[in-house]
This record gives sequence, structure tokens and C-alpha cells, in this order.
Amino acid sequence: MSIQYLEKERIFCLHTPNTSYLLGIVAQEGFLGHLYYGKRLLDVSGAQYLLRLEESPFVPEKNDRDRSSFMDCFPFEYSSHGVGDFRESCIKIRTAKGHAAVNLVYVSHEIKKGKGKLAGLPATFGNEGEVTTLVITCTDPVTKLNVELSYSAFENVDVIARSVKVINTSGEALWLEKVMSACLDLEAREYDVLTLHGSWARERHMERRPLGYGKTGVSSLRGESSHQEHPFIALLSKNASQTEGEVYGLHFAYSGNFLAQAQRSQFGQIRVVMGISPEEFSWKLESCESFQAPEVLLTYSAKGLGGMSRSYHDLYRNHLIRSPWLHKKRPILINNWEATYFDFNAEKILNIAKESAKLGIEMLVLDDGWFGNRFDDNRSLGDWQVNESKLPGGLGKLVSEINALGLKFGIWFEPEMISPESKLFEEHPDWAIQIPARRPCRARNQYVLDVGRKEVRDYILKQMFVVLHSANVEYVKWDMNRPLTDIGSAALPADRQGEISHRFVLGTYEMQECLLQEFPNLLLENCSGGGGRFDPGMLYYSPQIWCSDDTDAVERLAIQEGTALLYPLCSMGAHVSVCPNHTVGRSTPFATRAMVALAGTFGYELDVTKLSDAEKEEIPSQIRAYHAFHDLIREGTYYRNASYQENHDYDCFQVVGKGGKRSLVFFTQVLATPNEHSRCIRLQGLRENVKYKVIQVNLNKKELLTDAGKVVSGSILMNAGMIVERPWGDFQGRLYWLEEC
Ligand code: DGJ
Repeated sequence: MSIQYLEKERIFCLHTPNTSYLLGIVAQEGFLGHLYYGKRLLDVSGAQYLLRLEESPFVPEKNDRDRSSFMDCFPFEYSSHGVGDFRESCIKIRTAKGHAAVNLVYVSHEIKKGKGKLAGLPATFGNEGEVTTLVITCTDPVTKLNVELSYSAFENVDVIARSVKVINTSGEALWLEKVMSACLDLEAREYDVLTLHGSWARERHMERRPLGYGKTGVSSLRGESSHQEHPFIALLSKNASQTEGEVYGLHFAYSGNFLAQAQRSQFGQIRVVMGISPEEFSWKLESCESFQAPEVLLTYSAKGLGGMSRSYHDLYRNHLIRSPWLHKKRPILINNWEATYFDFNAEKILNIAKESAKLGIEMLVLDDGWFGNRFDDNRSLGDWQVNESKLPGGLGKLVSEINALGLKFGIWFEPEMISPESKLFEEHPDWAIQIPARRPCRARNQYVLDVGRKEVRDYILKQMFVVLHSANVEYVKWDMNRPLTDIGSAALPADRQGEISHRFVLGTYEMQECLLQEFPNLLLENCSGGGGRFDPGMLYYSPQIWCSDDTDAVERLAIQEGTALLYPLCSMGAHVSVCPNHTVGRSTPFATRAMVALAGTFGYELDVTKLSDAEKEEIPSQIRAYHAFHDLIREGTYYRNASYQENHDYDCFQVVGKGGKRSLVFFTQVLATPNEHSRCIRLQGLRENVKYKVIQVNLNKKELLTDAGKVVSGSILMNAGMIVERPWGDFQGRLYWLEEC
């Protein structure tokens, strides 16, 4: 069992393969204190002194007249509100009398093998041999609010999953106004903070900055995890790099409003909190009702950022993504969005499909515009009936013709939305999220559906099921193209309006769950105007998420680098598109675009009928490369060798197969620079005493591996480096295949 309770010391010890996490109960008061999180401890003797309970004046029993000097510096496991700890609180309520304070003390605990589900929420999973769970029940003796703190330690991954359940045993209604899912109080040491920022078409860029006094963090109030800020925060020791130094990571398995914040207190101590954003949040709890807060995935790496990335990748591939597609090669798809936008008919789509089939592409995805009067983005969301003027004979006819060409078929939906110009809005204007008498803010000329309401979810799903049952549809792209504003629901009373944003997220989760129950083999890809809802919550439902609407190979280097900091490559939707690129106008070599997309799910987003013959000739080689390498890319271990986001010059990363026998090295020189020699890149993850054949892969010739290659030892490749000849010209990608010989 990876969790023990030491009765005499009143300490809980949680262990993962390389980390330990210690928390203890203060004997006199019953407070839960945080003792340690870091490298795995061989012996925990004497750990209790870390709570500093001998040090006057900080101990209440020694200095009760100045109790706040204890409350404001004690390393709380889950901080209280309004009773003397002036750092960030974890929980806040409003009682019927209007009071907000909560002060939690230990009541009991339970340690059990395995890990339960979180009602209505995505969560990591593992069987009894893979994970152990500790649940500590605390109470606030005055309000009789109970809080269950849950910790699941994984046996084979350095991750502790934390979540919180609040139960109202007060005998009367109260309002939960803040509930963080995790709190981490750390010693006063120097750290940098790492977060991911972005915007539409520029998602998940990394930002590292020193953690100063006060509060630093990221959040979203957009009703989705967002393009702008990511539900992730990490603390890095000053020397932390890809390979060395300490990293504490917190990643939130939730797809709505969030807060991720680090704070340095007056004494230099650090508190990190993560949870649903308390702004605009309030949840009414009737007596005996409970509230389940989503899960935070906590990791510690003593091997720098690379160690953190690999822990999250392993966790997500083994304990979060449930899809039957997880370990399967995904069909190489072609999506018609950048090829046609709204301007298509059956003939155009079939021509794309015919040409695609000849080239080895395996699935056609029909994007936005196939339903209602959707000739542009101003109308018809909510009217999910096939537009027969575009697709005569309906979906059944089109899909059979596409299937007859040997291609699978997939389709786009945006289920959580409603256009003001739609039949649905005419019939149910009150189904849009809005505040009475206030004209809702339009974004892309659409409103958001109140999917927290069961009747709304049922109606939309029913329409979707009719479409999906009408033809052989094997893939769905689930899009969401605007944030939530004007938060108001016609279905909720005044004292429950603060629940809308969370109910929206729960409603979306429930809809995706129902969709997958109805179509268990469906390949679901989430999307939100590109990568605006790329988060662990959505990964629980879909094994892949569209990374960004920016398909430019150079922009994608930074976007995919930031995404791969946390997510396995097999989850990143990535396609080859045309040049000049539709978002930035840049032209890059076809082979570079293919190489960048190969590091994701791989597919095409262009009109194949308009490609030059030379380009068309390259596609079969790119497809051969996908078939040759994708098992390794999907299942292998990821190492980052150079950061384009940092050096603004070149990008390099590696995927290594089991046992270090094979590896792919992806290198891109972004801009050509004069007067430089070849580069020597230190590789990772290989075996020192093994000789490797290093072969440059041809992505534009018939045979992938014509290069005679060089034989070099793992020792040389990792310590001295692998030579990459200086490419000629801008945006030059190079792919290398290494195999044991
Ligand atoms: C945003 C997505 O990211 C695009 O790929 C495309 O599906 C459009 N929406 C369609 O409206």
C-alpha cells in the first residue's frame, strides 16, 4: 500500500515511485498540517518537527492571545477562511445568517485500495493494484460543514490526485462560495512560476517568471478552460531545466472557470491553490446535500520539466483517457474546413474524398456547414438537420458514397450553442444563457445554450443521435466557439444563479458521456475554436483534442511544445494545411508541415484536388511515415531537447520506444542563419552501451529510409550529441530514425 498512517506520530505518508507526501494532525487542535512533498523518503522518523509546533509564539497553546501568528503561518493542508489565516483560503461559505468563516479540524480517515469515481466529473482511475486512496473527513464545529479531502497515490506514476467533497450537515441551507480542490503549503524557498498563456491561434505558450511576494497566477472566467490561460501552474527551483532541478506541477481536470495561484506570504512561505474560480461561483447546499469539487493532479519531479511532462503523459495515457482508440492508430483524416469553409456541396466533398482515397487518406471529416441554413457562421446552430440543398439525399447517401471509396466518415457539431437566427431560438429563446432585459453579448453571432438544463441536453442529443444513426459516422468533432457571458438561467431561482457556469460544464460532460454510451466506438475529438478547451477534463471523454486553429508549421512548434509539456503527443490534433497559411500567411515546405503534424494525431486540412502534382506525390510518403512511426509516437516516451519558445531559433524533441531501442528525433531550424556549423544536439532516453544506426528520414521520397546512416553509441549521442547538418533555407524540418544495431 502506498499510503500509511503512523498512529503514534499522527502522520499520513503517501508514496509514489519517486515521491513522498506527508501530512499530519496537530494533537491539540486537530488541524491538518502539510509536512513534506518531494523526493521519496526512505525514513520519515522525526518528520513532525516540520510543523514547528515547538516554536513559540506560533503555537496557540503557548500564545493564544495572539493566535493569528499561528494561523497565518502554519502550513495548512487545506486552508480555512476568515479566522486568522490571511493567505488564500480554500473554502468560503455564506450561512443563512450571512457569515463566511470556516475552520476545519480532523474527524476521521479511511485508507482504501483503488479509487472511486467523482460524481458527474471526469477523473483519473486505477485498479486496486495501481492506486490507493486516503479520505480524511474534517469538520467545522460551528457550522457543521463536513469536508472530505481525498488523496489518491499512484503505484506506477509520480502523481497524487486530490479532490474535495463538501457535505452540509448543518441542518439548514448554506451557500458554498469558494471551494478549492487542492492547496499546497511549501517552505520558504526561491521558486519560479511556470504557466501557459495564449489566445486564439496561439495557445499554450510557456511563461516562466520569479515568484515574488503576493499572489501570482492564472484563471479563466470564460466558462471554458480557455485559449488565454491554462488550468496549470508549476513551481520550479531556480536551476530547473528540462533535465534537472525540482518541479511541482498542478493540473486541473476541469473544463470551466478556474483559479491556479501561487502566493508568497509575509514570511516567504509559499501557498499554491487550485480549483473552480470563486468569482461568480456560488452553490446552494440544502441540508444533507453535498458538492463534489473536481480533481487536481499533483506531481513532483526531481528531474526537471522533462520528468514532470513524462509523469503527466503516463498518467493521461494509463489513467485518464478511456477511449477504445487510445492505443490504436487513428485513421488519417482529411477535414474540409480550410479546404472549403462553408462553400461546399456533395460534389465538392466527393471530389476531395476521391482524390484523398487515391493518396492513402483514410477518413473524410465534414466540418461546419452541413445543417440548417448554415451558409455562413451567422445562423442555424441548434438546427441539427442535414441541409439537403447542399447534400441531396441526406447524409446516408453521401456517407455510403464516401465509404464506397474506402474512406471512413466523420462529422462536426457544436452542441452547446444556439444561433439567434435558428428554429431552435424561435421556439425556445429562454434556452440561451442570458440575463432578462439585457441583450446578450454575441460572439461569432451566436449564444450559448443553457446545457445545465436537462430538457436542453435531451433535445440536442436527440437531434444528434438522429443524424448519427442515419449514416455510418465513425468520428465526431465536438466544437465550442464562444465563451460564456451574460450569465443568467431562466430555469434557476435567484439564489442559484451562481451555479450556472459549473452546471454548464457538468451538462457538457453529461452530454459527452451519453454520446459515448450510445456510440461506444466513436472516435471523439474535442475542439473549441481550436484549442480553447484543451484540458484533462475533456481528455476523459475524447482521446484527442484539436490543438489550435493555427495550422502553420512554425506557429505549431510553439503551440505543440507548450501542449506536450503536459499532454501526450497522441492527444494533440495536428493537420497538414496549405500555404500560404490561412492564419499567418507564411509558406513552409510541405515536408516540414508533415513532420510537425506527425508529432500529433496526423491528418490533412486542405483541398487535395487543388494541390500540385509534386505535392500530391509527397502525400503517400508522409502517409507511409505515419504508418511506420505512429505506434512509437503514440506509445513512446517524450523528451524535449531544445525549446523554440526559448531560443527562437530551432526546435528539437525526441520520442523513445520501450527499452530505449528505437527513437525518432524531430528537428526544425526555423530561420536560416549565416556562417554557422552543424548543430550537435544531446539526445535523451537512449541506452549508453547500445550502438544506434542514425538515419535521416525522407518525407518526400518513395522510400523513407534510403540513407545509409551512421552508427553511433548511445553514450556519444547523449553526452556529446547527435550532429544535425545545417539545413539550407528557412523552416527546414529534419526527422531522424534511430534503431539499435
Ligand atoms: C473552429 C474550429 O477550430 C475549426 O476547426 C472549425 O471547425 C470551425 N470552428 C468551424 O466553425
